[in-house]
Amino acid sequence: MSRNKIQFGRPKSRKVKLSELNLDIDNLSLEGRGVAKHAGKTIFVDGALPGENVRVKITKQHKSYDEASIVDIQSASPARITPACQHYNHCGGCQLQHLAPSAQLQHKQSAVLSLLQHMAKIIPVEIADPLRADAFNYRRSARIGVNRLSQSGTVIVGFRRRHSSKLLQISKCIVLPEYLSGLFDQLRSTLEQIENAKAITHIEYLQGDDCGALTFRCKATLSAKSQALLSNMLKKFKLQGFLRYDRGIEPLAGNSAALSYSINELQLNFEPGDFLQVNAAVNRQMVDRAMDWLVLNDTDHVLDLFSGLGNFSLPIANKVAQLVGVEGSDTMVQRATGNATNNNIDNCRFYQSDLSVDIKNHPWFAQSYNKIILDPPRSGAQQLIHNLIKGNGNSEGQSPSHILYIACDPSSLARDGQLLTSLGYQMQKFCVMDMFPNTAHIEAMALFCKITEQPKARRASKLIPH
Ligand SMILES: C[S@@+](CC[C@H](N)C(=O)[O-])C[C@H]1O[C@@H](n2cnc3c(N)ncnc32)[C@H](O)[C@@H]1O
Repeated sequence: MSRNKIQFGRPKSRKVKLSELNLDIDNLSLEGRGVAKHAGKTIFVDGALPGENVRVKITKQHKSYDEASIVDIQSASPARITPACQHYNHCGGCQLQHLAPSAQLQHKQSAVLSLLQHMAKIIPVEIADPLRADAFNYRRSARIGVNRLSQSGTVIVGFRRRHSSKLLQISKCIVLPEYLSGLFDQLRSTLEQIENAKAITHIEYLQGDDCGALTFRCKATLSAKSQALLSNMLKKFKLQGFLRYDRGIEPLAGNSAALSYSINELQLNFEPGDFLQVNAAVNRQMVDRAMDWLVLNDTDHVLDLFSGLGNFSLPIANKVAQLVGVEGSDTMVQRATGNATNNNIDNCRFYQSDLSVDIKNHPWFAQSYNKIILDPPRSGAQQLIHNLIKGNGNSEGQSPSHILYIACDPSSLARDGQLLTSLGYQMQKFCVMDMFPNTAHIEAMALFCKITEQPKARRASKLIPH
């Protein structure tokens, strides 16, 4: 006769037998994984594409969904291509290199449109062509990880591995500019020579039109000899070098050029640590389209919220009566103000405010604006819109005719779009922007216009050409 044992503490986790399955992939998730259904459960398959039949191995089981990896592709999608990067299968940086660039963009557009329709019941009146540029060599900012292995002294320089916080040794990254091929090997061999490489936690890369910069994040002061080794290495790539300590940023010896980029015939300066739109070519198109959609004229009073270093504000200021930019970072407010002065623009003013809290006592809020740009971080601007826009019990605030929303998170766009709709706005124009080709990251732009009567929504039919 068996006796029941009394068990104290947590029951031992039972090892689940992870089986192999054959699946038809129906869809692509927002983060770029193939989606299939099996026995009523959703399964996310890494690297699988819609239309494919794949043999998969379940890697993780959850209550409402499972995760799987491909064992074999039984029938491949015509949109599948061979990834161009030698590190693609292991690196966490790109998620969509196995999908043709035009199909990536088609996926991004339909993913946002579907989210807008299902989450917010929004169908844009007009869907404009996506903004796109080259799928490689586009990145003008990146964070490069550094880890010196204690036992061997080997230095790993690279990006996080896929689904892991561990670093992958990278020798070439093809979404960075071509002239930086060779940089990773040089960084690694230099960091292996310096005395206190363990003090460097990561490197921030920023690229201007004429030169770029690497900023080494340091936990302890680097010796003069280590600094000289870094400076010499950077000279080969004509890169400026900086050390970022808790006490502030210090330039490495030999720095000469200022960092800047041009947009709309203006020159915008930036410094290490500043926010820069990642893709220069798509950024130029985005600013041009923003100005076009806002139908700017010399009587407009424009409010640019989350204005950064003046990327939208300064080109726009040249076309309107007055521009006010608001930004949370003091440094960026100073940068935008300096950029206005350097470009002889005197009809704009920049204010520092935390836009996630109540804004009603701020001096810029008391003025009236007929056009507003919102370019929030991923969390979006729900509370800000509540505080900013008149309506729904809010008697103070703005009643602009146009609101241009730049979205780096489609769910935030859907949620905030729904709120704007409830405040009497209609999504008049929409487009996706291929700011981060080959990654699952989706950026979109939407123009909301104030309506007086109920809108007649039209079904969007524009498709992206292959
Ligand atoms: C997506 S960036 C856009 C910058 C600028 N519009 C551009 O195109 O370069 C978002 C900006 O919002 C600022 N920001 C983030 N959180 C904020 C907050 N709570 N209040 C005000 N600004 C904030 C950041 O400093 C950053 O400059």
